[in-house]
Amino acid sequence: MGRKIVMSITGLFLCSFLVVHLIGNLQLFNNDGGEAFNIYSRFMGTNPIIRTMEFVLLAGFAFHIYDALVLTRRNKAARPIGYANNHPEQNSTWSSRNMGLLGTVILVFLIIHLWNFFVPARFGGLEGVVIDDVEYENLYLRVVESFQVWWYVAIYVVAMFALAYHLIHGFQSAFQTLGLDHKKYTPFIQMFGYAFSVIVCFGFAIIPLYFFFFFR
Ligand code: HEM
Repeated sequence: MGRKIVMSITGLFLCSFLVVHLIGNLQLFNNDGGEAFNIYSRFMGTNPIIRTMEFVLLAGFAFHIYDALVLTRRNKAARPIGYANNHPEQNSTWSSRNMGLLGTVILVFLIIHLWNFFVPARFGGLEGVVIDDVEYENLYLRVVESFQVWWYVAIYVVAMFALAYHLIHGFQSAFQTLGLDHKKYTPFIQMFGYAFSVIVCFGFAIIPLYFFFFFR
């Protein structure tokens, strides 16, 4: 049970990161040649509080993934053959049965994503751009160029579908694990989780689609 609680808390923490990340990324739509986005990225890369939070975020991902692996292995060991008369499609949702698969798709996406944006932003490899006589790294240009490539855009869109399904189940499961479900509030929590997952993932998915279709 302890591991499920850790998974729930880290999962909800990662959800809060998604909101902050999405709001920050909305600056890509500013239509200012990327000025606000590049200034914002410099701030995120140099502010000591944000840098510390990066380690907390990394720990959040690590615990979430590690506990998922341990729990999956434990469940398999407890029931190696499965129930004789089980009809999983009748008594559980598709996403609840495929959280591991969905999580793996998200992890592969994250590795590709960090390699393309985070690694050059932190360790160098981006072109420079001058804004108000100050030189910045042009992370905006990297975003725009990346989203001109159809298969890169496709990876993002597929990954956002996986993330949406993962969050839809994860959200309500987390509340259940934490004992926060209640006859009266559960439908609201479920609806909120559903809306949250769809809105956040839609918000992320339209970024690559916008740059691919409307920004050439
Ligand atoms: C189209 C949507 C997205 C765009 C345009 C985007 C853009 C970026 C950029 C430019 C960075 C580097 C920021 C910097 O180092 O200054 C970054 C970092 C990161 N992104 Fe994304 N991102 C998107 C979606 C996502 C999603 C869906 C996730 C998680 C599932 C995610 C997770 C991360 C993480 C963990 C980092 C490193 C931590 C950080 O720098 O805040 N991103 N993203």
